[in-house]
Amino acid sequence: MAAMMIAILIDPHVDDWSLVRTRRGRMPMQFWTFLHILSMFSAVTIVAGGALFVTWAVRRRDLDGLRVYFRIAPRMDMLGGILFVAGIVFGLIAAMVTGWDLFSTWLIFAYVLVVVVIGTGGAISPYLKRVKIALDANEGEEVGEDLGRLLNSPTAPLAAAVLIAAIALIIADMVYKPGL
Ligand code: HEM
Repeated sequence: MAAMMIAILIDPHVDDWSLVRTRRGRMPMQFWTFLHILSMFSAVTIVAGGALFVTWAVRRRDLDGLRVYFRIAPRMDMLGGILFVAGIVFGLIAAMVTGWDLFSTWLIFAYVLVVVVIGTGGAISPYLKRVKIALDANEGEEVGEDLGRLLNSPTAPLAAAVLIAAIALIIADMVYKPGL
């Protein structure tokens, strides 16, 4: 797959980007939309899954759950981020090969909502860092005062709700394409 994509990118004879050459013939332009949906689907699974996991662990004051989350979060965040960026790149390529105007209303909505998704991740990050520090400093399995204050905060459920609402809006935007 990677070799095929590199071959396409460096092949000076590809004059029609909507058709991708393969050994078996030509692939239709939906190829890029397929890659876009595949990477976005995977990114959303990881990002929204992580957000729900940590929200439940916070709400239930599940210290073991939080420890597991903080152990796997760095790798999950990196993988989710890479897939999300790949999804954006494939989405932009899909838009170009399909002939969509990159400044059409539905795509501008998508850009804004993508910024909301990224912004939500950035906004919750300092809170999660504080939870991790308080969790590491917490003695035993009883929730101490510092950690308890953080776990009572509505930050995690609020961020998860904004994230999931933004994802739902993006999918509606992709399907209904307002402004067309
Ligand atoms: C910069 C951001 C994005 C761009 C430029 C973009 C671009 C596109 C394009 C060009 C299509 C094909 C539309 C068509 O030909 O009918 C598409 C479809 C789709 N995109 Fe995106 N997209 C973006 C973000 C997202 C995100 C974040 C998600 C998921 C959360 C997503 C999910 C989908 C889905 C499910 C479809 C299939 C819709 C359908 O066929 O009815 N997209 N996108």
